[in-house]
Amino acid sequence: MKKIGIKGTGSFVPTREVPNSYFEKMVDTSDEWIVTRTGIRSRRMIEPGQAISDLATPASERALEMAGLSPKKLDLIVIGTSTADMLSPSAACIVQHRLGAKNAVAFDINAACPAFIYGLAVAQKFMQDGSHRYVLVVGGEIVSNRIDYKDRSTCVLFGDGAGAVVLTHSNGHRYGEILATQIYSDGDLWKLLYVPGGGSRIPPSYQMLDKGLQYVKMQGNEVFKYSIRTMVDAARKIMESKKITAKKIDWFIPHQANIRIMEEVAKRLEIPPDKVIITVHKYGNTSAASIPTALDEAVRSGKIQHGDLVLANSFGAGFTWGATLLRY
Ligand code: UT7
Repeated sequence: MKKIGIKGTGSFVPTREVPNSYFEKMVDTSDEWIVTRTGIRSRRMIEPGQAISDLATPASERALEMAGLSPKKLDLIVIGTSTADMLSPSAACIVQHRLGAKNAVAFDINAACPAFIYGLAVAQKFMQDGSHRYVLVVGGEIVSNRIDYKDRSTCVLFGDGAGAVVLTHSNGHRYGEILATQIYSDGDLWKLLYVPGGGSRIPPSYQMLDKGLQYVKMQGNEVFKYSIRTMVDAARKIMESKKITAKKIDWFIPHQANIRIMEEVAKRLEIPPDKVIITVHKYGNTSAASIPTALDEAVRSGKIQHGDLVLANSFGAGFTWGATLLRY
């Protein structure tokens, strides 16, 4: 089986910064509550009319530029998102068109926050037999127009963004190696975090909009508990599968949903705080974009160096969760 490594990373967030004070005017909340309960100070949101391909395309261009690869060389484009530009076609086909990646096959993966990790898992399957050489995996989400600005328990949490990686076959040295990616789902728990309206069960209608069914519904407390449990479990399993102990991890990138979740997961895994990559304070929870944007920023800032061992894990609606372990 071929080894697979990362040839380039890229990310893109909207320019509009939305501080916590923005929500103080809308709902009964405060900067102090949001910072202490979530760690979020600010997030980025799109301008009206923007769509996920407006973020995913520049993120992909940056990753391709770092990789020194023409879009025409791409064999496959996988976009992890549940907020494509439109219901059909996929965001991946729109991004393929915008990049001019004529020779790629393109599709989306709808797996909520871990969709980027799901994307890596799928990409590896395509690449391991040698049939697909250059693969673009993107995680991107626009949550800002899926949240109810009257619901204080959700509206303060999310932000928009996109991150991308270009994967290539690797000898394990120059482009490192994705050592393992493991993904999980438990559909029994779907009702704890979901968007009821706009799909085939409750199609768009005036009634749907009146009831606010187009918005994210979440039982935050329950999600909080499951996310800690599953992210710890996924991290332990993937490290065990490669006989790697937490001491060997150079950088840990947990899903950027809530600083308290991230700190607890790191504590249970015995990974020291100075090895945890954190962007939640400035971007909020960007769902599928959370891991690849944090990865790209850590690479570009020089934190993550070639040869470093990186562990990332995520959790989200479905429930879905997973982890990836890579030598950068
Ligand atoms: O990306 C997918 C995964 N998503 C997550 O991982 C999110 C997981 N959940 C969380 O991060 C947290 O559960 C929240 C941040 C959503 C909520 O924090 P919490 O510490 O679990 O608060 P809580 O839900 O237990 O609520 C405590 C209190 C409640 O008031 P009462 O009933 O005690 O009077 C809430 O109504 O805090 C209240 N509250 C707020 N107060 C001020 C909830 N949201 C707010 C708010 N401002 N924005």
